[in-house]
Amino acid sequence: MGDCFATATASILRRTGAEYSDSRGAGLRAFGQQLQLNLLNGRAKVKTYRVAIVGLGRMGSTIDDEGHTTLPYSVASATTASSRLELVAGCDLVAEKRERFTDRWGVQAVYEDMRKMVEAERPDLVAVCTRAAGTDQREAPSANYRVDLHADLTVELANMGVSMLYVEKAMACSMRRADEIRAAIQKNNCALNTGVLRRFDNRYEPVRDVVLGGRLGEVKAAIHYAASSLLHGHIHSMDTLSWLLGDPAIDRVRGQFDDADYVIEDNHVASDPRATYQLRFAGGVDAWSLPAAHWEFEILGTDGGVRSFNNGTSSQLRLATEGGGWEEVPLAPVTPTSTVVSCLEDLVNSLEAGQMTRGHVEITHQITQACLGVAESHRQGGRWLKPAEVAPDLYVFHI
Ligand SMILES: NC(=O)c1ccc[n+]([C@@H]2O[C@H](COP(=O)([O-])OP(=O)(O)OC[C@H]3O[C@@H](n4cnc5c(N)ncnc54)[C@H](O)[C@@H]3O)[C@@H](O)[C@H]2O)c1
Repeated sequence: MGDCFATATASILRRTGAEYSDSRGAGLRAFGQQLQLNLLNGRAKVKTYRVAIVGLGRMGSTIDDEGHTTLPYSVASATTASSRLELVAGCDLVAEKRERFTDRWGVQAVYEDMRKMVEAERPDLVAVCTRAAGTDQREAPSANYRVDLHADLTVELANMGVSMLYVEKAMACSMRRADEIRAAIQKNNCALNTGVLRRFDNRYEPVRDVVLGGRLGEVKAAIHYAASSLLHGHIHSMDTLSWLLGDPAIDRVRGQFDDADYVIEDNHVASDPRATYQLRFAGGVDAWSLPAAHWEFEILGTDGGVRSFNNGTSSQLRLATEGGGWEEVPLAPVTPTSTVVSCLEDLVNSLEAGQMTRGHVEITHQITQACLGVAESHRQGGRWLKPAEVAPDLYVFHI
């Protein structure tokens, strides 16, 4: 409690600009004790954090209109729904998007240039909600096109000293840029989560609890069901498999594009390929992606299996019986909460507690590497490879 409280207090002091010379010193302890007293007396206000959004399109501002969910989905609506966050600014290259954002969210501070916005507004949290490769096209405009806007913005924002970043997936188009992001995030001690939102979806928590609580016995296999593109879609499927298994290291990856004859030239894949893959996690669990069904996940062990159906809508647990076979065991129903609110608030909670975020940069780097590993494996005839064997400059265009 003491250390945790000291970390949280140090963080509050840092964010509020209060001075302290020694994070474990008497002044800090006194401040902490006073703050604790105030909190107990209900006098201290919960600190809110200033949020700015780069890219005022669907994910930044308007996706709530599309009917995917009744819960807050765009970063703007999730920010507005959270008592820990305050929407203060937005940035888009397109004037009309900026005007619509102001009309919709009542935020006057809108900018064309991200750097100017950050310098003027000093946000605590910036959400990168542009397309990954910086274009609305589904295909790279030329064989030399290597724009990686998520990576550019993430590195720049971390180096500008922004404390918390929400970055849309996938965070990079190549491992060279993913390495750069990891270095910038770590150097600047920045808290990062990316938009792989099933990790923040409470409907998957009972499934994960069953797996990590040992109810399936020894876990043997994990399956993702759905046809999908690689960097746009499988970044989600791999992340969810990893999350459900407790984020073990990935030892090996293999895979291939649906277009088995596709030849990768000059380290360049011009459009996000549909693909299937296999992952071998540390500890011996193998995972497969099967290109059918509607975003389902299944984990199978020696003593049972658990499956999440229909994009998280429901789940089923089956456990071995004494008489042999597996029988269904009811799982408590879950009332869903907003994944984007959870993701953004996880940044705040992690910052305050001085702890890793749920989707921290190491795990995001690992999943990006596994995803790009599928392209590398395709190039090498579908062989198993270690994730570190991915060519650093292998670029996969995606949106
Ligand atoms: N996690 C999810 O569930 C989810 C859902 C939807 C979209 N996304 C992701 O969000 C990202 C954005 O997708 P979208 O559908 O919202 O795109 P969009 O085209 O609707 O919005 C992107 C906006 O970014 C702006 N922009 C481009 N470059 C910019 C720059 N340098 N500075 C400022 N603004 C810039 C564009 O003008 C546009 O308004 C994509 O990576 C997509 O995969 C994720």
